[in-house]
Amino acid sequence: MRASMLRSIETVLKRSSSSHVVRRSFGSEPSPDRKVTVLGAAGGIGQPLALLMKLNPLVSKLALYDIAATPGVAADVSHINTRSEVKGYMGDDQLGEALEGSDVVIIPAGVPRKPGMTRDDLFNINAGIVKSLCTAIAKYCPNAVINMISNPVNSTVPIAAEVFKKAGTYDEKKLFGVTTLDVVRARTFYAGKAGVNVADVDVPVVGGHAGITILPLFSQATPRGSNLSDEEITALTKRTQDGGTEVVEAKAGKGSATLSMARQKSITKRSSQCSEHKIDLVSRNLVMLELFLPMPA
Ligand SMILES: NC(=O)c1ccc[n+]([C@@H]2O[C@H](COP(=O)([O-])OP(=O)(O)OC[C@H]3O[C@@H](n4cnc5c(N)ncnc54)[C@H](O)[C@@H]3O)[C@@H](O)[C@H]2O)c1
Repeated sequence: MRASMLRSIETVLKRSSSSHVVRRSFGSEPSPDRKVTVLGAAGGIGQPLALLMKLNPLVSKLALYDIAATPGVAADVSHINTRSEVKGYMGDDQLGEALEGSDVVIIPAGVPRKPGMTRDDLFNINAGIVKSLCTAIAKYCPNAVINMISNPVNSTVPIAAEVFKKAGTYDEKKLFGVTTLDVVRARTFYAGKAGVNVADVDVPVVGGHAGITILPLFSQATPRGSNLSDEEITALTKRTQDGGTEVVEAKAGKGSATLSMARQKSITKRSSQCSEHKIDLVSRNLVMLELFLPMPA
């Protein structure tokens, strides 16, 4: 191998070892230290998410923050015999400590929908929660990658962006709206209709994360199964767009989609694309982010 090629490989490896972006361990190479903080960790999404983070070998410190009930969740999760050290934090006084040194912050804090509500109905409450949490993030871990789950994601991501801009910490490559669920649903529903193995299915989904702003591109779905009619594709599109409502109604006031949501393998959109008024149809602009955190086998 030529010396110049070796040098450039060395440079890439060096760069990736200091990067916040996905890096997998090979063989016996120890995983680097990585702190993940979940804000809203005692909630319907927060708890299974805390469990999944605890199972992930790439996480070395897991900080679980909520305004209530975190000691119990943290105690429970901390008994699992995996690598990460778990700590629970509760209330405003402990928010800074929970965030300090975080590489990844995941935010499922806020109120979920009840039957009959749209995600927009959550705006008044969740906008304020997201604003104050992001203000603390800008102060205590300005370099962290942020994954916004709190709805309406189409609005909470721009709110976060504005908070970070004001604080001078905004980096569009580090702020993500978590819209995985739209992709997960599109894949599941497509596989059922097209008669293909769901494990092999890919369906690009672009746009936002609310009703008609969710745009599954079934014309690009792979593998091709039995030919779907226009009516079937329209029905699949509508079911994907209304997937959250389907769960909210089935739970009849006892929560929204929490388990499928917590299943973290995120396909997210850059913050600059996450506006109801700016629907980006270009699938290459989707960012595939394995959240640093591939699912355990
Ligand atoms: N992005 C998605 O695909 C998606 C899917 C489902 C739900 N959601 C959204 O995720 C959010 C959480 O849903 P859930 O079902 O877990 O709700 P939940 O009510 O079960 O849990 C929310 C948690 O947030 C906590 N919380 C409230 N204010 C807080 C604050 N200031 N700081 C820290 N924690 C705070 C609550 O104490 C609670 O434990 C909702 O806004 C919901 O609409 C997003």
